[in-house]
Amino acid sequence: MTKDAWDSVDRYFSDLLIPADPVLAAVLRANQEAGLPAMDVAPNQGKLLMLLARISGARRVLEIGTLGAYSTIWLARGIPADGRIVTLEAEPSYAAVARANLDRAGVADRVDLRLAPALRTLPELVAQRAGPFDLVFIDADKPNNPHYLEWALRLTRPGSLIIGDNVVRDGHVVDAASADEKVRGVRTFLEMTAADPRLDATALQTVGSKGWDGFSLAVVR
Ligand code: DHB
Ligand code: MG
Repeated sequence: MTKDAWDSVDRYFSDLLIPADPVLAAVLRANQEAGLPAMDVAPNQGKLLMLLARISGARRVLEIGTLGAYSTIWLARGIPADGRIVTLEAEPSYAAVARANLDRAGVADRVDLRLAPALRTLPELVAQRAGPFDLVFIDADKPNNPHYLEWALRLTRPGSLIIGDNVVRDGHVVDAASADEKVRGVRTFLEMTAADPRLDATALQTVGSKGWDGFSLAVVR
């Protein structure tokens, strides 16, 4: 099976299960036109994030890595109208596109976008007692994933979900000798997750419009 087959199954599922949505289509168009890297979650993964937020009853969400806010909008749709998302973005040009998209989607009142490197904002969130968050989505620069996990643990409570995007690295995640900083970051993140008695976790690989990819899911004990 090839990428074409994976794509067509993703398209089949998305067309069938995700109603046509002019806002989300406009968001993806805006991201593309602004030249953002094509790293948005797939529509069916975005909907999974929304469902996980809803299943877990999340009211407060922390997203590390906003990009164009496509996943942020899905998460915002999974929390109650009086819920809150704090989303962290280091790149000003991405944040500008994200803000316009959040306005376009009518969820800007629910989203607090903080423009700064996440490793600067995360200690501020702890100092401000901004937690606990019910769901954390880690989807930023992969070399820092181990740090993001440590901060996520400081900002969650028993029962919170911690989701890590892009843990497969086209299969290179199994390469213990990899020199790729992203692979190394993801491996350390997974090993820390496995070793931490506060976490109960799994990881899944996916194929589809994003190629060979996957995510981890952990619950805080
Ligand atoms: C990468 C990052 C992402 O968030 C993503 O969804 C796909 C790829 C990356 O850094 O390679
Ligand atoms: Mg990602």
